[in-house]
Amino acid sequence: MKGIIFTEFLEMVDAKFDPETTERIIDMVDVPSGCAYTAIGTYDHTELIQLVVALSKETKAEVTDLVRAYGFYLFERFVRTYPRFFSGIRDAFTFMEGVESIVHTEVRKLDEAANPPRILCTRESGERLEVIYESERCLADAAHGLILGCIDYYGENVELERSNLDDESGKRVRFLLTRKS
Ligand code: HEM
Repeated sequence: MKGIIFTEFLEMVDAKFDPETTERIIDMVDVPSGCAYTAIGTYDHTELIQLVVALSKETKAEVTDLVRAYGFYLFERFVRTYPRFFSGIRDAFTFMEGVESIVHTEVRKLDEAANPPRILCTRESGERLEVIYESERCLADAAHGLILGCIDYYGENVELERSNLDDESGKRVRFLLTRKS
């Protein structure tokens, strides 16, 4: 997985907890990279899981909650880092519909080591959007937080329901977004 996902995670820990917590979780994990991440490097996604588990031990927060909070934080960072993906997009559903066909497609094109998840959107009506997340990396909690971040960014009143497809692993998860007036 690309280094930006790791560098942003450690920056979130610095910002939401403190730099000492970041140092402590880096000391707790035993990973090939030694946590010396660069945004353009590529690392095994299990290193992220180890860091989250360490953060959970350190802070007593649930892993699920930490990964979801990370997704929420990451969306705001994507807004700042990749403003071109947001230009001319006025609502959360339109943005979500472009994640697969525009955003992740370009991510794959720019870096063949990148392997973002599949995000399949179906507009069930003007007010309802189904979003299916599929990835071997089982980071549906991050997807959940990113979707919440997207809704928050556009300042919309959207109800989000989540259900596992297949099993509980978080590999295939369905999100149903319903816009409230
Ligand atoms: C401008 C917005 C976005 C950008 C620039 C972006 C870019 C990226 C990049 C660079 C990665 C790392 C891929 C890799 O290392 O192989 C990634 C992973 C990921 N993206 Fe996006 N993404 C965006 C929006 C979203 C949204 C809205 C979702 C919500 C469903 C999403 C879901 C994910 C998840 C969950 C991952 C972690 C990897 C995995 O689950 O397999 N992304 N994205």
